[in-house]
Amino acid sequence: MALYTLREVLEKAEKGKYSVGMFNVLNVEMLRGIIGAAEELRSPVIIALAEVHLPFVDFEDISHLMIKAAKDADVPVVVHFDHGQSFENIVKAIHYGFTSVMIDASMESFDENVRRTKEIVKIAKVLGVSVEAELGHVGGSEGSSETTFAPEDYYTKVEDAKKFVDSTNIDALAVAIGTVHGEYKFTPKLDFKRLEEIKKSVNIPLVLHGGSGLSDDDFKKAIKYGISKINIFTDMSLAAVNSIEELLECKCNKINCEGCFGLNKPDKEKLIEIIVKKVVQEIKEMDKKERKVTYPDIIQASMEGIKEEVKKKMRVFGSVNKA
Ligand code: 13P
Repeated sequence: MALYTLREVLEKAEKGKYSVGMFNVLNVEMLRGIIGAAEELRSPVIIALAEVHLPFVDFEDISHLMIKAAKDADVPVVVHFDHGQSFENIVKAIHYGFTSVMIDASMESFDENVRRTKEIVKIAKVLGVSVEAELGHVGGSEGSSETTFAPEDYYTKVEDAKKFVDSTNIDALAVAIGTVHGEYKFTPKLDFKRLEEIKKSVNIPLVLHGGSGLSDDDFKKAIKYGISKINIFTDMSLAAVNSIEELLECKCNKINCEGCFGLNKPDKEKLIEIIVKKVVQEIKEMDKKERKVTYPDIIQASMEGIKEEVKKKMRVFGSVNKA
């Protein structure tokens, strides 16, 4: 089925009133987990490399892996460059074969955002690559647990949205309506009225960044009021860590304190002495015992965790059986 552009996949999603998940890829486990989920549920999917993740992986190497995985998949896959701020990296992504790029000049003035977005659109359109841009600003950072809040000053202004889309000729618009990237430290309250008005004023698909941590109800409302693409990273990252932790907890050698707690309360000192002895003995034993968790076990656990989380999101986004 293979490689699709963002425009193709989102046009279908808009008509079908569902959303397609965009999931950030950092390594092979993530790539395989995401594509595996999409194939299992017969869902279209957007796999994305974010510019902010480039320190963790070689740009060209991961691009080749992502494009090959997309071509081999038996569901539609978009290969997207997420939050591109540097002109050079966006052009590189196009050169490596990405079918969609995001130019993120959302922290610039309106005019500068338009200018930088148009620069990318001009190149991308010649090569049949879709372009997403952001108006207003979604704060925070992917995977972070330090996320603060979403100031209303950053929200997308309805009156600017049409002007921006008309001036730039982009394929999808990312809007700021109260989400942030990373783990929420507050209960997000999305401005659905604003979303509905933006949707009425523009004729292209809308994108929701900072999808992790939102409730199913938020997702459903966001889709109802006009969102066709939802970006997820943090929830996948947490799912991978949780699943590795579970594996370590159930497979690793544990200190067995059985038999330590049959003593009466007043024997506190004796109890401490017994526990200390037992722990020291167990630690010595552990060194002799064979380690039970291998690195491939960890890779497998993280891949499974990611896959299950992606499947959960696809079900809520309504993209199952839409391949
Ligand atoms: P989260 O990390 O909050 O899911 O945001 C992901 C995102 O929007 C990537 O562009």
